[in-house]
Amino acid sequence: MPQADPAAGLAAIRRVGCGSCHSIPGLSWPKGELGPALDRFGDQGMIAGRLPNRPDVLAHFVRRAPELVPGTTMPAMPLSEKEARDVAAYLYTLRSR
Ligand code: HEC
Repeated sequence: MPQADPAAGLAAIRRVGCGSCHSIPGLSWPKGELGPALDRFGDQGMIAGRLPNRPDVLAHFVRRAPELVPGTTMPAMPLSEKEARDVAAYLYTLRSR
């Protein structure tokens, strides 16, 4: 993503505790299992099975998932808009090759 910093994204992921529900490369602990593993998220075409996997949509989703997917168990997370873009940039680095 332009103007986004994957390393800062990983730091934000660690700070807000995404690992309590997701297995995320770069985080050795915790590796939660309530949410889907994000190990190859960059290869996916969809977010949560129903949203197009685009940078703007992903940055919105990681910060305010219930706004986009009513009834989802993925909670809103305390990220700034900039941090949400950084987190999205980090998630796009997670590919199988
Ligand atoms: C309380 C547990 C919980 C926390 C904390 C959490 N998530 Fe989730 N997350 C979920 C669940 C459950 C889903 C599945 C949502 C659905 O399908 O409706 C999900 C879905 C996702 C998805 C879509 C995955 C896919 O395969 O389509 C992404 C990306 C994601 N979360 C990223 C994050 C990030 C980044 C954070 C931290 C900012 C985070 N999550 C924090 C529970 C959580």
